[in-house]
Amino acid sequence: MTLFRTLLFSVTAASAHPAWIFDGTNSIGTPYTRLGDFDPVSIPAAPNGSIEPVLSSFVSFSIEFAFFPDFAGDKQIPNTFSDNLLNNLRDFQGSRPHIRVGGNTQDYALFDPDLKTATNGTYIPSISQDYPRILTIGPKYFDSYTTWPNTRFIHGFNLAKNDSVAAASIVRSVPYACRVLNRKSLLYWEMGNEPDLFKTSAQGIMRPATWNETDYVKEWQTKVASVKSALQLNCSADLASDAKFKWIAPSFAGTNNSLNPVKTWEAGLDSGENIARFSSHNYIGGATQPGVTLAGTLMNHTKTVASVGAHNKEQASLKAVGMNLDYIMGETNSLYNQGKPGLSNSFGAALWGVDFNLYCASTNIKQVYMHQGTDYRYASWQPITTNKTTVGTKAPYYGNIAVAAALGNITANEVRVQNIPLKNETEAAYSIYAGETLKRVMVINMNQYNYSVEAPIKRPEIAYNFTVPSSCAGIAWVHRLIANGSDAITGITFNGNSYNYELAEGKPKLLGNVTKDESIPVGSDGGFSVELPWSSAALVQLAC
Ligand SMILES: *[C@@H]1O[C@H](CO)[C@@H](O)[C@H](O)[C@H]1NC(C)=O
Ligand SMILES: *[C@@H]1O[C@H](CO)[C@@H](O)[C@H](O)[C@H]1NC(C)=O
Ligand SMILES: *[C@@H]1O[C@H](CO)[C@@H](O)[C@H](O)[C@H]1NC(C)=O
Ligand SMILES: *[C@@H]1O[C@H](CO)[C@@H](O)[C@H](O)[C@H]1NC(C)=O
Ligand SMILES: *[C@@H]1O[C@H](CO)[C@@H](O)[C@H](O)[C@H]1NC(C)=O
Ligand SMILES: *[C@@H]1O[C@H](CO)[C@@H](O)[C@H](O)[C@H]1NC(C)=O
Ligand SMILES: *[C@@H]1O[C@H](CO)[C@@H](O)[C@H](O)[C@H]1NC(C)=O
Ligand SMILES: *[C@@H]1O[C@H](CO)[C@@H](O)[C@H](O)[C@H]1NC(C)=O
Ligand SMILES: *[C@@H]1O[C@H](CO)[C@@H](O)[C@H](O)[C@H]1NC(C)=O
Ligand SMILES: *[C@@H]1O[C@H](CO)[C@@H](O)[C@H](O)[C@H]1NC(C)=O
Ligand SMILES: *[C@@H]1O[C@H](CO)[C@@H](O)[C@H](O)[C@H]1NC(C)=O
Ligand SMILES: *[C@@H]1O[C@H](CO)[C@@H](O)[C@H](O)[C@H]1NC(C)=O
Repeated sequence: MTLFRTLLFSVTAASAHPAWIFDGTNSIGTPYTRLGDFDPVSIPAAPNGSIEPVLSSFVSFSIEFAFFPDFAGDKQIPNTFSDNLLNNLRDFQGSRPHIRVGGNTQDYALFDPDLKTATNGTYIPSISQDYPRILTIGPKYFDSYTTWPNTRFIHGFNLAKNDSVAAASIVRSVPYACRVLNRKSLLYWEMGNEPDLFKTSAQGIMRPATWNETDYVKEWQTKVASVKSALQLNCSADLASDAKFKWIAPSFAGTNNSLNPVKTWEAGLDSGENIARFSSHNYIGGATQPGVTLAGTLMNHTKTVASVGAHNKEQASLKAVGMNLDYIMGETNSLYNQGKPGLSNSFGAALWGVDFNLYCASTNIKQVYMHQGTDYRYASWQPITTNKTTVGTKAPYYGNIAVAAALGNITANEVRVQNIPLKNETEAAYSIYAGETLKRVMVINMNQYNYSVEAPIKRPEIAYNFTVPSSCAGIAWVHRLIANGSDAITGITFNGNSYNYELAEGKPKLLGNVTKDESIPVGSDGGFSVELPWSSAALVQLAC
């Protein structure tokens, strides 16, 4: 821990950049003289016209269906820790994250009106040790939709189970859903999770090999219609209105699995005009995939660009066949199969999360739902203590915070994000605009720096040099996302704040021993330089 203190103090000291000197007065906003090699990267004054604004609540979460009661609690014992963490994100991005309640277990769930508990889950360890493969939910499950104020939800239904019991189960659950999900708290519905894997899933084959896009669309529409009828029968009329009866779909696992997204669209998925967002899922790789490493797979901008690039291509192909809905990542995280210990739960994964989310935003993927589950290795937080994991804020959450801080208040202005290409695959930069005005620059260094080794090297620093419009001249404030190294799983801060459970139950707690609000000069010609220790990110707040 001493290393941390020393490091951060040396960073502060280094922020009197060797390449810059102030003129005589050395006061805020005064002109300066530039010395030496600068080679700055130019940041445009306004965003590229092809970039569209992100949706509000860009930083959102997908919560594994079976574990939603752990995350939200119930009427008697609301999970206030989760609530605090969601509020922190609201305080940066202007509105609370949206919550999609879904995932693999959404497609296992059956509803039993007589079940006394929220869930009755049975694990089949040969299929997964991470979630129940058999799941029943009862009326009490829906209590969990009432614990968080001012939160909007997407509720998922089971499409995978294809028999009359499952079909009746959907219809029987609707009256309970609409008792708690009202006009305000209901965002959308979702029918089925990753149906493009129904023919191939390792968790159980759910459809014959001949099942194709036409079949999927037909089943989707039939079950969606059954929900509408149930809403008309048992719920307030407005929930069944054309304006409010909206879905996210198709929630495919990938861009090229056993159902093709474009063919699905062409088969008339939205012929009922009740889809609000085109939702797709993404994981950078798999937890047990050979060759997956922190440095090569996650802290690798090239890899992120390639992974998101497949969605950008899909989006373009869909557009070409008339799909004009906003495209979102309705479920995503670092490594599928709930993440890999030492990678997905590390600070390196938090840095990956910043790069991934901002790269999505820069390519018109308008909202990102980071997937969560109890005991999941990639989770942003563990909502309760189990016999596997202690309750707590996990490293990836700090990445969520940094993304929300980078975007700023999305409810106040249209926010656009532009990628600023840098040379190396271990680094990335983004400019963020409120309306047409440049507000912030996020710089991410992803050179792997391990501190938990016997003889850690001195942590190298890289000076990143940029030019911004001269209207930004003066002082800029640097907010750092930092930890001891990319292998750290705790001791992480954003601008000097910890959000750890044990300090203030997830509320921000300013640590006295980490620097915050560093100032750097922005020259009259718009030049500035910011130094980043390896494995850290810096959000530069400009005064343009
Ligand atoms: C900084 O303060 C926090 C909270 O008091 C403490 O947990 C941590 O060990 C401190 N770090 C150092 C380097 O002193
Ligand atoms: C930024 O400028 C400094 C000082 O001139 C220089 O040493 C450094 O190499 C530059 N950084 C980059 C990434 O070019
Ligand atoms: C804007 O982005 C588009 C698509 O990436 C690119 O083709 C175009 O050159 C960019 N325009 C400017 C002015 O950078
Ligand atoms: C975001 O902006 C809206 C509209 O200006 C304002 O009402 C709200 O208080 C702001 N929220 C935050 C967290 O700054
Ligand atoms: C819970 O589910 C299991 C089957 O997985 C079943 O045997 C058991 O009776 C169920 N418990 C209740 C209370 O319904
Ligand atoms: C079940 O799937 C088959 C084959 O895809 C389809 O023909 C049938 O309509 C489905 N049944 C129900 C109840 O959804
Ligand atoms: C799906 O299969 C049916 C029956 O073979 C066929 O009529 C339909 O055109 C197929 N749909 C697609 C999208 O290939
Ligand atoms: C739904 O409405 C039907 C018809 O009015 C009624 O018979 C049924 O009891 C209602 N279900 C619930 C759970 O309220
Ligand atoms: C999609 O997957 C098939 C094999 O299943 C492969 O032949 C094809 O090249 C892939 N297409 C893209 C665009 O990746
Ligand atoms: C980063 O990802 C790219 C694209 O997948 C790959 O070619 C490259 O080898 C990766 N870099 C490292 C260091 O593994
Ligand atoms: C851990 O907790 C789960 C769920 O409460 C329980 O089923 C399991 O038996 C426990 N395992 C151990 C080793 O205590
Ligand atoms: C560029 O990346 C390589 C490894 O991929 C690393 O050795 C080198 O230090 C990096 N350079 C900078 C300026 O980050």
